[in-house]
Amino acid sequence: MEPYRPRRSVLYVPASSDKALAKIAQLSCDAIIVDLEDAVAPADKVAARQKLAGIVANRPVANHFGHHCEMVVRINALASEWGADDLLAAANCEPDGILLPKVDTPRDLLEAGDVLDDNFAPDSVKLWAMIETPKALLNIGAIAELGRDPASRLTCFVAGTNDLANDTGVLATPDRRYLVPWLMQMVLAARAGGLDMLDGVFNDFRDLEALARECTEAAAMGFDGKTLIHPAQIEAANRAFVPSTETIAGARLVKDAFALAENAGKGVIALNGRMVERLHLAQAEKLLAKAAAIGA
Ligand code: COA
Ligand code: MG
Repeated sequence: MEPYRPRRSVLYVPASSDKALAKIAQLSCDAIIVDLEDAVAPADKVAARQKLAGIVANRPVANHFGHHCEMVVRINALASEWGADDLLAAANCEPDGILLPKVDTPRDLLEAGDVLDDNFAPDSVKLWAMIETPKALLNIGAIAELGRDPASRLTCFVAGTNDLANDTGVLATPDRRYLVPWLMQMVLAARAGGLDMLDGVFNDFRDLEALARECTEAAAMGFDGKTLIHPAQIEAANRAFVPSTETIAGARLVKDAFALAENAGKGVIALNGRMVERLHLAQAEKLLAKAAAIGA
């Protein structure tokens, strides 16, 4: 089994903000996305790119909890005037991953992958993809399928809910009712491709209660974590994307039951009046590994 890598809380930090960058060593998020795209004004793009090497070289090895903190660089769209240079600059600093915005087709990822292949082994720098355009949603199965081929480097999808609402014209409501069908589509595709799936950002960063509700909802929808815009949002995400004490206890029961000599070799057993199959054992083992990795 692949070791579980927590991506519960993934914070965008604008590459142009020294004040925000100075904070990152003290944060308790699972990953940081250094942003060259939407958080950086056009006039600051080149200067932000020039700072990238220093930012990545000085990245914290571990977060506040002593866990490995991934660092990912979000570049500008490859079709934009900055994209190609951003990709080279990002690749040269060898971050854990490069997040491509505005991915429309598998080809967008394959092209970026080719550039990385010129310099790095396939198990090094990974690719993450923003799912934020109508085209990406229409092509999502084919895009996700790349996740089954390690040579593609694709490892994670990030929902771009602000762009999606903007491009489609749906109303952004507090319950996200018009976005939910697309978000579920993303979760389904990510599972089909063996990818992690991160939810979009919550813009109202002073309303931590509403954020906590949205994180709980996202965890129930199957998301692995949430992308964030402000340090104050980290705690709610870390709390929501952890299995509950009851869920962990239930998983232990399933594991212990299958370990009994009388159940050896059985495909299905009865546990407290419920049917439990080997698929539940696999699910329980995965959940316990996840809980152990984050110290839950
Ligand atoms: N990462 C790291 N530190 C951050 C941060 C972030 N994303 N957002 C805010 N901070 C820091 C601030 O620099 C400030 O530091 P200080 O205590 O040294 O002054 C502290 O946290 C408190 O910030 P606050 O005053 O509450 O917010 P702000 O007005 O400075 O910033 C935003 C608000 C929204 C502009 C800022 O949070 C931000 O830029 N977020 C990221 C936006 C982004 O990346 N968008 C693109 C992806 S959707
Ligand atoms: Mg976007």
